[in-house]
Amino acid sequence: MFAQRVLSGMRPTGALHLGHYHGVLKNWARLQDEYPCFFFVADWHALTTHYDDVHIIGRNTHEMVIDWLAAGIDPAKSVLFVQSQVPQHAELHLLLSMMAPLSWLERVPTYKDQQEKLAEKDLTTYGFLGYPLLQAADILIYRAQHVPVGEDQVPHVEFTREVARRFNHLYGKEPGYEQKAQDAIKKLASKYARRYKELRDRYQEQGDPGALEAARALLAESSGLSREDRERLSGYLEGGGKVILAEPQALLTAASRMPGLDGQKMSKSYGNTIALREDAKSLEKKIRTMPTDPARVRRTDPGNPDKCPVWDLHQVYSSDATRAWVRQGCTSAGIGCIECKQPVIEAVLREQGPMLERAQQYIDKPSLVTDILEDGRQKAAAQAEETMRDVRDAMGLGRGG
Ligand code: TRP
Ligand code: SF4
Repeated sequence: MFAQRVLSGMRPTGALHLGHYHGVLKNWARLQDEYPCFFFVADWHALTTHYDDVHIIGRNTHEMVIDWLAAGIDPAKSVLFVQSQVPQHAELHLLLSMMAPLSWLERVPTYKDQQEKLAEKDLTTYGFLGYPLLQAADILIYRAQHVPVGEDQVPHVEFTREVARRFNHLYGKEPGYEQKAQDAIKKLASKYARRYKELRDRYQEQGDPGALEAARALLAESSGLSREDRERLSGYLEGGGKVILAEPQALLTAASRMPGLDGQKMSKSYGNTIALREDAKSLEKKIRTMPTDPARVRRTDPGNPDKCPVWDLHQVYSSDATRAWVRQGCTSAGIGCIECKQPVIEAVLREQGPMLERAQQYIDKPSLVTDILEDGRQKAAAQAEETMRDVRDAMGLGRGG
C-alpha cells in the first residue's frame, strides 16, 4: 500500500519545556531514524483557541522550531513545516466537512472538556467544533500510518479513522468498480491471484483479521501492480471501494510523566516548568528553591524522599548510586537539601548542553529556520497535492471538461 509514514504536529502556544522534551521530542527524534517523518507547527489549530490573541503565534512558531531542532529533530531526516503554509490542509478540511456528521464532532471528548477547562474563552465557534476534523485532514493528507501522540489525542486519531472509512465508502466506489477489481486481480501472478482470492474469501466469510493482514502483505510484496490497482485491491478486501485515504494508527507515546518543580506533572498551566532552553542561572534558582519534604524543617531533621519532589527528579536524572546516596543521606539527615539538589542541577545542565549548542546557530542566524521551513513546505506540499488530486477526482471535482 502506501509507504510507512509518521506524522505529528504541535500547537505553537509557548516555549517548550523539559516535559515536552522527555514526553514528545525524544520520541520524535527516535522515530526519524525508523520512518520518513513529517512534523509540523499546527498554527491553525492554535487559532481555534487563540483567535483573539494572534500576535504570539508567529513568534512562538519560530521559537518552537528552534526547540525542535535543539532537541535533535534533524531537517536532513524529517520534513518540518508550518500548517498554514500548506493550504491543501484547508481544502481537505473543507471537503471532509461536507460528509462529517455533526454528531461525530460533538461526541469527541475534547470538545466539551476543553470548553469547560477554558471557560474564560468563548469556544462555541465553528472552528473549534471542527478542530478534530482539521486534525483528520492533517493526517489523511499525508496518508500517514503512524501518528505519535499522547493519550489525550487518541480519540482524535480514532475519529480520523472513522472519517477515512466513511470517505472511502462514499467515494471509493468508482463506476464499474467490481469489474476493475477483478481486472486488477488478473494482473497478479497466478499464484498470488489465487492466494489473494482465498484470503479475501476467508476474511469476508469468517472475518479472520489474520487473513486481511496476510492479503495486505501480499499486495505490498507483489510487484507489477500500479498504485491505483493496489489501492483498489486493498479496498476490495474489505468489500469497500478503493482506499483513497489510509487509516492511521495512534502511536501511543509511553506515558512519561515528567515531574515538575512542585511534584505535579510538568505543565505550563501549573507554572512548574523548566524551559528546554532555560537560562542556567534561572534553572539553578528554580531547582534550589524547589519545595522539599516539609518534615525537614532544620538541616538536622531527617526526611523522606518519597515525600519530596526533588526525589522525583532524581528518578529521571540520577544513577542508582546517586539515588542510594540521596536516600541514605536524607533519611539520616546526613546531607542537606541544597546538597541533594546539586546533582539534579548538574544533570539538567548536562542534558541541556548539546541542545543549547545546536540551538545557537539558529539564534545567530534566524534565516536558517526560515530556509528549513521553506524546504519542508515544498516537500509537504508535493505530498499533499498528490493526495488532493485523488480526493478531488473521487469527489467529482474536475475542471468541468
Ligand atoms: N491536536 C494536537 C495537540 O493538541 C496537535 C495536532 C494538530 C496534531 N494536528 C495534528 C497532532 C495531527 C498529530 C497529528 O497536541
Ligand atoms: Fe528532598 Fe533531598 Fe531534601 Fe531529602 S534531602 S528532603 S530528598 S531534597
